Amino acid sequence: MPEDLAFREHIFEAWRRVSRRYGFLGYDGPPLEPLELYTEKSGDEIVGQLYNFRDKGDREVAMRPEMTPSLARILGERSRSMPKPIRWFSTPQLFRYERQQRGRLREHFQWNVDLVGEANVAADVEILAVALDGLRELGLTAEDFRARVSDRRLLSALLRSAGVAEARLEQAFQVVDKVEREARDRSRERLEREVGLDREGANRVLSLFDAPGREALEAEFGEDAEVAPLLGELGEYMASLEALGLGDFVEFDLTIVRGLAYYTGIVFELFDRQGELRAICGGGRYDRLLERVGGEPLPAVGFGMGDVVLGELLQERKLRPEFARGVDLFIVTVGDDQRPLALKVARAQRERGRSVLYGLRPQSVRKQFQHAGNEGARAVLVLGPDEVGRGVGVLREMAGGEEREVSLESLMDGTETP
Ligand code: HAM
Repeated sequence: MPEDLAFREHIFEAWRRVSRRYGFLGYDGPPLEPLELYTEKSGDEIVGQLYNFRDKGDREVAMRPEMTPSLARILGERSRSMPKPIRWFSTPQLFRYERQQRGRLREHFQWNVDLVGEANVAADVEILAVALDGLRELGLTAEDFRARVSDRRLLSALLRSAGVAEARLEQAFQVVDKVEREARDRSRERLEREVGLDREGANRVLSLFDAPGREALEAEFGEDAEVAPLLGELGEYMASLEALGLGDFVEFDLTIVRGLAYYTGIVFELFDRQGELRAICGGGRYDRLLERVGGEPLPAVGFGMGDVVLGELLQERKLRPEFARGVDLFIVTVGDDQRPLALKVARAQRERGRSVLYGLRPQSVRKQFQHAGNEGARAVLVLGPDEVGRGVGVLREMAGGEEREVSLESLMDGTETP
């Protein structure tokens, strides 16, 4: 519906402004991709949600459920000749066969912002800053949302030290991804069954999430040759966000893993502070994906922010703008004789960029005013025989009701643009 589309456009415009502010260029791709682009790279969760079919050319295809594999494919074909880093953004429509529920639909739009070709943690900082500013641009504050940040390398090191075998890390990630939402017993049982740990090992893993703060990890693993540098990098990441004035928005949280398989480093998700809604946004570093789709081996970091949960949050915080139709002027004619003049005025004003309407069939002045009201016109110009005889019309501001005469000449030559 137009009022919903206007709300979506409001969100899109904020996303585009912020993208440009950070020097990102817009791109797009096809909504239909080869099925294998997802089956091999995205991981089981998303593959189970694919809209896929065999097309008339006997090819296995899927409606895109996310943009990142398309981005990797597109850059794989062209990145060699491009200066790095590459800063690109997009607002694709995506399709996932999910169980429909609050915040999850079968189609949604997602702001994707990705920085490709820079391995330094400064690129991770930049990406999270864009995501946070995207929400700030829409009027949300640190009271409304926060970013929860972790690092997959750090989690891997901790899981390994708790006894998880290298080959089972992916399965362990899946359990950690749900550790907050599932009962402890269920997580323990999955760690035993899916990750192959004994009871003691499962408990060691779960204890990581009892006091998951950075300080607690620092105290326990500060000397660990693998963990210490990762904690150091996270510290630098947090300090940079602080310097950018965004420190209040960011928290370390070891339970953030991300459902998708390709992430390799710092990962994050954005949530409403009340914790009532699902994730608004998710992203992180994925340094091996481009290589895996056959392109140049380039490090990359980015995020996707959906319009569904965000729309709910804006609505709850009364940040959904009122729907305005944006009609500047409605021309009312008292008799048929003034119609040609009304068309001339409309033409002159539209040429100057004003939005102008008039009734499409003869109607009483009262009906025409009603029509102007329905269209949300800001002003009405009344053309009656006496005034037109004197070379003027009566201009009425709809909000305050003030009326004044304006010369027809000035409406025609554009010196007057109501
Ligand atoms: P994702 O976590 O699958 O990440 O999705 C990102 C965001 O899209 C979610 O936080 C959520 O707001 C929204 N979203 C996802 N699925 C749905 C749905 N069914 N209905 C409504 N909203 C949804 C990715 O897609 C990654 N490709 C993001 C990325 C870009 N990582 C690096 N670059």
